[in-house]
Amino acid sequence: MTVAAERPALPFTRPNVLELAPLYDVLRREAPVAAVTTPAGDPAWLVTRYAEVRDLLGDPRLGRSHPHPERAARITHGAVQEGPSGDYETEEADHTRMRRLLTPAFSAKRMRQMGDDVAALVDGYVDGLVAAKEASPDGVADLHEGLAVPLPVAVICRLLGVPPEDSDHFRALSDRMATYSGDVDAAGARAEFGRYMAGLAEQKRADPREDVISDLVRAQTEDESYGYDEMIRLSVGLLFAGHETTVNRIGLGALLLLSRRERWEDLSADPDARTDAHVEEIMRLGAPGDLGLLRYAHTDVEVGGVTIGEGDAVILSINAANRDPEAFADAEAFDPDRAERAHVGFGHGGHFCIGASLARTELRTVFRTLATRLPGLRLATGLDDVEVRTQHLTGGVTALPVTW
Ligand code: HEM
Repeated sequence: MTVAAERPALPFTRPNVLELAPLYDVLRREAPVAAVTTPAGDPAWLVTRYAEVRDLLGDPRLGRSHPHPERAARITHGAVQEGPSGDYETEEADHTRMRRLLTPAFSAKRMRQMGDDVAALVDGYVDGLVAAKEASPDGVADLHEGLAVPLPVAVICRLLGVPPEDSDHFRALSDRMATYSGDVDAAGARAEFGRYMAGLAEQKRADPREDVISDLVRAQTEDESYGYDEMIRLSVGLLFAGHETTVNRIGLGALLLLSRRERWEDLSADPDARTDAHVEEIMRLGAPGDLGLLRYAHTDVEVGGVTIGEGDAVILSINAANRDPEAFADAEAFDPDRAERAHVGFGHGGHFCIGASLARTELRTVFRTLATRLPGLRLATGLDDVEVRTQHLTGGVTALPVTW
């Protein structure tokens, strides 16, 4: 296979939910910085090699803002990624403030406290799976609905101070705003999410609590330069990024482990010793979504033999980077004992995931508990029959029937 003469159009077709499109391998070899077309039909550069992806993630010449948002190439129209606003100068200051505001919420102390909550929640959901299986005529339980969804939702609700009874509502909005098929009004969902969050922010203003939304509302009240819209945008982004990504990684992690028996047996033979390393391989290989991280070049950038022009859109494929054989020996193999561990599943550089330690706590607790309590766990369906979300920025599965 060689790279098509015309620009390949994203998303590329995947053989199944655990594999990437073969075109990524071709591009990595032949055109590591390739001209592609986004799902919105706009031109962009797709970067697929680990070295370039990692360098560019840490390169201050690339950012999220564009001086002329109306002219900027989009990955999708509407969806989560809204029009790139702001300019190069204010982007850095806004980002620094965002990290400063959020850092206390993710302190080691808060994360340790959350760790106990996570353990209790996971035990409760596993009890629920056991009960669901006993009640089911075919002895099957749904790990997606019974554990992968409710855990990250409950955790993010506690952290942000979002009422758990609103979770069906914000789950539905999250799903719609991350969908880029033409028949879903993603931009409408995003606007509705903003209104929902504004309502919640007003409640916190009137009755502040020990939670992140209350912190953000307080910061916005005290600092005139911190815009209300920006605060709402960050709150929506946190609620979305704080659960959606983790839901997917739990589902894909279970699929990775259960689709090859020896992986699951390796983990369940000694969950306390083996879980952390398995979770890092899940982070590297459990690739949700079809796209990557979006940036705009703030100046001309020479990389991988091409010149990315100022203002051009750049898609950094962390999924392709994490499977680069130059960076990971036998890259497609799930190998918890591999020497190379520096995957970019949580990004890299200045935007490195703020929630990484919380996400790791959730994933480790889930897989350690499952492997300890249900060592006979197996998929109750073939890999090809697992229902997958397509045309969706973060991808993932919609159900995961298991038995034991
Ligand atoms: C397995 C779960 C998760 C994955 C795979 C993940 C992945 C990522 C990645 C790849 C980035 C970098 C984005 C970029 O460079 O443009 C990122 C950033 C971020 N993540 Fe996560 N994340 C996860 C869980 C969480 C959780 C639980 C939270 C919050 C509770 C969170 C909050 C954030 C925030 C606020 C950023 C933006 C950081 C910045 O721009 O400086 N993430 N995440």
